[in-house]
Amino acid sequence: MKKTILTGLRPTGNLHLGHYFGAGKTWREIQDEYDFFLEIADVQALTDNFNNPDKVHENVFEITKDLLSIGIDPEKVHFFIQSKIPEIAELTVFYSNLVTVSRLQRNPTVKTEIAQKKELFGNNGESITYGFLGYPVSQAADITCFEGECVPVGEDQLPLLEQCREIVRKFNSIYGETLIEPQQVLSKTPRIKGLDGNEKMGKSLGNAIYLVDDEETIKRKIMNAVTDPNKIKKDDPADPSKCMVYYYHNLVNQENLDNICSECKQGLRGCVDCKKELIASMNQFLEPIREKRKYYDEHPEEVNQILHKGTSEAKEKAEETMKKVRKAMKIDYEL
Ligand code: TRP
Repeated sequence: MKKTILTGLRPTGNLHLGHYFGAGKTWREIQDEYDFFLEIADVQALTDNFNNPDKVHENVFEITKDLLSIGIDPEKVHFFIQSKIPEIAELTVFYSNLVTVSRLQRNPTVKTEIAQKKELFGNNGESITYGFLGYPVSQAADITCFEGECVPVGEDQLPLLEQCREIVRKFNSIYGETLIEPQQVLSKTPRIKGLDGNEKMGKSLGNAIYLVDDEETIKRKIMNAVTDPNKIKKDDPADPSKCMVYYYHNLVNQENLDNICSECKQGLRGCVDCKKELIASMNQFLEPIREKRKYYDEHPEEVNQILHKGTSEAKEKAEETMKKVRKAMKIDYEL
């Protein structure tokens, strides 16, 4: 029997290299080993995009195509849309009794996100919504509704998983052993830095390379990437550890890395040439992804079919779990 794994993504924008190296690549590598549920978390996306339904709707399909284009195999993975599984919403309501408001306010992930969303939630989070504050509860329902044993996540999501475990323990202690406590599978790759050297690659930071970027865009972005500021002239020696171009060579051009490093240190490699080489390697890396992506762009009905199938499979599993949950909570009335 394969173990069940569950992970999710908020459909708020296309996938970039940070998503790929930090998550997607690992998902592709482990998709044979697990019974894999992959949630397109539109309900969660609406918690901070409730005023932008078009964006969330559109990105459900964008993200699905991004995932397919990197080789997540719909024969192996259940792709599903969160809002199409009302059992998750039902479970969220039951869990909301098992969590205190102050515990949610202290959740480090939630705290960080509230601080980042001043426009929506006020300078000190005074306009926080009930829905956003409660999204960890909904995420606990996401995981446990499918009896997810393992959850592949990045470091930033660990407090959410811890909160999920607490809810499971509380549920089991009150209603009897029913739910499975999930374990994390931590991503091996640390967070990918942006083209500007920022610790995080992100849409709002404007420093990301997207899987859907075309050749012109790649060229423009890499030509503007940050290099060692102490290197002024073409043949000045430089420090690759201060150069984002070198950092990205390390991701997509590993064969030539030693050479690049030593040439750069000796002043034998100009930044423009080095960037040109990276542009070529990046395009080579993205080419098979673009090709697959093109196929799905031209076959939207196939994408719908994949989501339809995955969602039916997920729904079946969620219904099974909810039978157990309602029975344990003594709300399985037979009228
Ligand atoms: N919170 C996750 C993110 O922002 C997305 C997500 C939704 C998720 N449901 C999940 C992750 C369940 C892991 C498990 O990226």
